[in-house]
Amino acid sequence: MNKPYLVVANWKMQLTCNTAVQMCLENHHGLATLAQKKNIRLVLCPSAEALYPIAHALKGTTVHVGAQTCSKYKQGAHTGQIAATSLAEIGCSYCIIGHSEERIATGETNLDIALKAERLLERGIHPIICIGETQQEYHQGLTIHALHEQLEPILQLLARYPSPGPITLAYEPIWAIGTGKVPPHSYLVKIFTWLAQITTTLVPAGAYTLIYGGSVTPETLKELLTIEYLEGLLVGSASLDFQKFENIVSLISEH
Ligand code: PGA
Repeated sequence: MNKPYLVVANWKMQLTCNTAVQMCLENHHGLATLAQKKNIRLVLCPSAEALYPIAHALKGTTVHVGAQTCSKYKQGAHTGQIAATSLAEIGCSYCIIGHSEERIATGETNLDIALKAERLLERGIHPIICIGETQQEYHQGLTIHALHEQLEPILQLLARYPSPGPITLAYEPIWAIGTGKVPPHSYLVKIFTWLAQITTTLVPAGAYTLIYGGSVTPETLKELLTIEYLEGLLVGSASLDFQKFENIVSLISEH
């Protein structure tokens, strides 16, 4: 492995602020040790209100802290929004954008997501852009079409930058999130080969990191680790159980 393998824990809105902070403090040594493992880059994404105390609690470790969304605006009268500038100020170095749960909850468009990516890059934050097809699109063989539609405005906007900075694309089939289902191995190989091609035609090789999310567990992990071009994982439910998460990170590091 040349690049470290990216492991992103997405805690969604599963924990209260106090519980999330407590979990970090209780597993402080464990998290710090996992982040030091060979070939691993660890990112923890708690919900917005827990970002500041968690970034503070993990200071001095190599665990990166990430947000789960940000505003497409720089600043101004935008009630309820979180500016990328503030995320940078409180120590976030990553931010998930375009997660299917966020797309459904807010109705954000692909252009909105592209603008969010732009705001993050301006502040030196690494965007983790989620894309994925619905179950219906999967069954109708429309995955590539759906992914292309989601990616186009994003890639177009980012192609304007001579060197857009590190960007992660997280392929998350919507039907695989929280369901225990993972797409067949051959299918994932096809998707990641396509993603590698489409991203390298627009930006120099290496600028994009391609990761997978959707029911990643110690059990589903083995097959995922053999997929070419796959350089990381987005872990939801399994990241809330520290032992399970530790198991996942250790298996990746030993692979
Ligand atoms: P899951 O969630 O691992 O619980 O399927 C992944 C995600 O939504 O990022």
